[in-house]
Amino acid sequence: MILGIAGSGRLHSNSEYLLRLTLETARGRGVETRTVRLAELQYRGCTGCGSCRNGAEHCVLDDALTPVLADTVGARALVLSAPIYYGYPSGLFKSYLDRWYSFRDAARSLRVPAGRLAVLILTQGHPDPNGYPWTVQSMDKVLTSYGCDSRILVAAGVGEPGDAVGRADLEERARALGESLAARLS
Ligand SMILES: Cc1cc2nc3c(=O)[nH]c(=O)nc-3n(C[C@H](O)[C@H](O)[C@H](O)COP(=O)(O)O)c2cc1C
Repeated sequence: MILGIAGSGRLHSNSEYLLRLTLETARGRGVETRTVRLAELQYRGCTGCGSCRNGAEHCVLDDALTPVLADTVGARALVLSAPIYYGYPSGLFKSYLDRWYSFRDAARSLRVPAGRLAVLILTQGHPDPNGYPWTVQSMDKVLTSYGCDSRILVAAGVGEPGDAVGRADLEERARALGESLAARLS
């Protein structure tokens, strides 16, 4: 199963649109997919309690993200998506990602399989795809540190809802990522 995470809450979301194209392409090649829309869930960000790295086997916060984190551990690949807000991924998405802290144990060993493909789709109004290098570098580092083979698609110049629809350059890249995922999993 490929798990999709939609980190925008708005209607006609650009990041969710590109996420959908990627997952549809993989599904068309016979791969099972599931999508979680973070905006529909009630959850907290990591509190830094440290329990997950001091005896507990998973994040001790018990909320709507609990099963999503379990699915994240179990997924064969991930497609994550988030809008850029003030130069960083949305809070909805960042709060989910912070809970990944529980994916390492007390010995700092990974609780997730290494080598999984993780696609991250970031959307922004800024027309320059290199406008927020710190975010791209940081996200790549986080994903890599949890054993993921990271691929980041920055979709630039999509400021209004629905702007990504019909952007052939972005649609092609999203579909190509879906093909890569399916090829990796078959
Ligand atoms: C609170 C907020 C902050 C934003 N900050 C930025 C920004 O710093 N740089 C940028 O290029 N776009 C910024 N945007 C625009 C969004 O990144 C852009 O509209 C994106 O396509 C939204 O993705 P979505 O449609 O999936 O929600 C911001 C939008 C909001 C609502």
